[in-house]
Amino acid sequence: MPSHAKGPGRRAMVACSLLMLPWLVAAVTAAVPGCKIRITAKGLELVKQEGLRFVEQELEHISIPDLHGKEGQFHYNISGVRVTELQLALSNLHFQPQQHLAFNIKNASISLRFRRQLLYWFFYDVGFINASAEGVNIRTVLKLSMDKAGRLKISNITCSASVAKMQTAFTGTLRKVYEFLSTFVTPGLRFLLNRQICPALNYPGLVQLNALLDTVPVRNQVDEYVSIDYSLLSDPIVSLDTLDLDFKGMFYHHGSNETQVNQAVAPVIKETERMVYVAVSEYFFNSAMDAYFRAGALSMEIVGEEVPKDLEVLLRATFFASILMLSPAVVDAPLKLVLQASSPPACTIRPSGTFVSVNAILNISLAPTDHPEIQLSSMTMEAKLSAKVSVRGKALQAQLDLRRFRIYSKQSALESLALFPLQTPLKTLLQLGIMPILNERTKKGVPIPLPEGMDFTKEVVTSHAGFLTVGADLHFSKGLREVIEKYQPDPRPRASRLQSPGTATAVP
Ligand SMILES: *[C@@H]1O[C@H](CO)[C@@H](O)[C@H](O)[C@H]1NC(C)=O
Ligand SMILES: *[C@@H]1O[C@H](CO)[C@@H](O)[C@H](O)[C@H]1NC(C)=O
Ligand SMILES: *[C@@H]1O[C@H](CO)[C@@H](O)[C@H](O)[C@H]1NC(C)=O
Ligand SMILES: *[C@@H]1O[C@H](CO)[C@@H](O)[C@H](O)[C@H]1NC(C)=O
Ligand SMILES: *[C@@H]1O[C@H](CO)[C@@H](O)[C@H](O)[C@H]1NC(C)=O
Ligand SMILES: *[C@@H]1O[C@H](CO)[C@@H](O)[C@H](O)[C@H]1NC(C)=O
Repeated sequence: MPSHAKGPGRRAMVACSLLMLPWLVAAVTAAVPGCKIRITAKGLELVKQEGLRFVEQELEHISIPDLHGKEGQFHYNISGVRVTELQLALSNLHFQPQQHLAFNIKNASISLRFRRQLLYWFFYDVGFINASAEGVNIRTVLKLSMDKAGRLKISNITCSASVAKMQTAFTGTLRKVYEFLSTFVTPGLRFLLNRQICPALNYPGLVQLNALLDTVPVRNQVDEYVSIDYSLLSDPIVSLDTLDLDFKGMFYHHGSNETQVNQAVAPVIKETERMVYVAVSEYFFNSAMDAYFRAGALSMEIVGEEVPKDLEVLLRATFFASILMLSPAVVDAPLKLVLQASSPPACTIRPSGTFVSVNAILNISLAPTDHPEIQLSSMTMEAKLSAKVSVRGKALQAQLDLRRFRIYSKQSALESLALFPLQTPLKTLLQLGIMPILNERTKKGVPIPLPEGMDFTKEVVTSHAGFLTVGADLHFSKGLREVIEKYQPDPRPRASRLQSPGTATAVP
């Protein structure tokens, strides 16, 4: 090559790679999801029922500091304020683009009961008073984000609360005195109540709901060979009627930390009728196959007694001549069949179904107890399986079925011909001896990344070109509170999380 051609050539290459740089960066950041989850407005409606129960319980435990005060000769103490009844009739939970969930409670009423101590000159009075807050409005907005580990988190919560009016119900002879008391106590109570509602919701919103989200598996062991990576690829995308989450959806074998590049099509969810949709692409399954392959899990040995009798008779007859030629002394030695995938099986998803192609090597040998093994044949096997994907509880399962099967010799066409009579019995061996073992493994399934206590019902699996979608309804197998309390970060600091419970002066 003429030396002068080198310079411009290299320059051109540099220029070219510089031009490609932005494209490469874009390709890295906009990673293709292997798994996608959509929660629809209908799903959110179910969450609302659970959420409302939860908020009610939180507000019932609201704590309001004691009030002490003095007006001329009138001294009063208000203590032990507690909520006796809540009415949260008008509430709604809805999506708020781009990243938020909004929870509104309108015109609620909160009934309170507290202890009074009054001193007016020498008159001393102790007892309980009932009061109620009417027209309580609470607006809470949760911001959903992806954290550093790729987990869904509530990253911010904004809350505003207002109490339209406060009423104190008094009866009896001292009504006038109490009414005098109420003129400055009720505005103070209203102010305090107003100020305690948001803190009472912020704690569960940020800490407890995040503890619930922590139950969603991000990097999770599937079995002794592989784990799955369900880290988010981006912040959630919220529209008016959907919440979409893009997950990596990649299997890896333990100890491996490399990311397999996703060149498959991205799953697409267009539907919004069901409560939840999960879509997984070919990449999801292929990464599983690749991880099992790398973990060395795709091989199997069938030795001696394990070889079905009729197959053994047939194999011995087929290889009789070679056995005699190789080593007549070990003619009765046990047979050993070793089946091993020669490359990671490949998955194809089409509207007609999901298929897996497997290429494997089948080695047949004699395994005498006190002699080295004698190989009789090494054949190539191609199989095509169909996979029926389903969901149980919260696990994605697959039922495999052997569809096509072919063995041939890599050595010669002649040997392939000789192997022909073995096709059917080997296929039977695969069907009866190996498929059940594979299905036992795939039956356990892979968990779908949803919080604990939430399960799928009435799921429908649909095949598309390159991906599968599962549409389902949700139900809570456990109450939100039950799960949250199980994963409580620390014993809840209910009273102490509020500012000093001691004295607060009444503010009109
Ligand atoms: C608010 O609730 C009260 C009863 O608690 C009711 O009388 C009133 O009409 C309600 N207001 C609105 C705007 O719904
Ligand atoms: C209010 O409480 C304080 C401290 O607990 C007490 O000293 C005071 O006497 C109480 N006042 C009345 C009117 O009971
Ligand atoms: C206050 O409310 C309680 C129920 O929480 C009730 O038993 C009691 O009679 C009420 N007292 C007054 C004075 O209304
Ligand atoms: C939360 O959101 C509010 C309002 O958008 C903002 O003022 C505040 O700084 C945010 N807090 C955090 C920790 O991001
Ligand atoms: C992957 O693991 C190897 C050693 O096991 C380590 O050297 C490397 O930094 C890891 N890479 C990443 C991206 O974590
Ligand atoms: C099968 O036999 C071939 C040829 O002898 C050999 O290269 C290969 O390692 C064998 N595979 C297994 C799993 O024993």
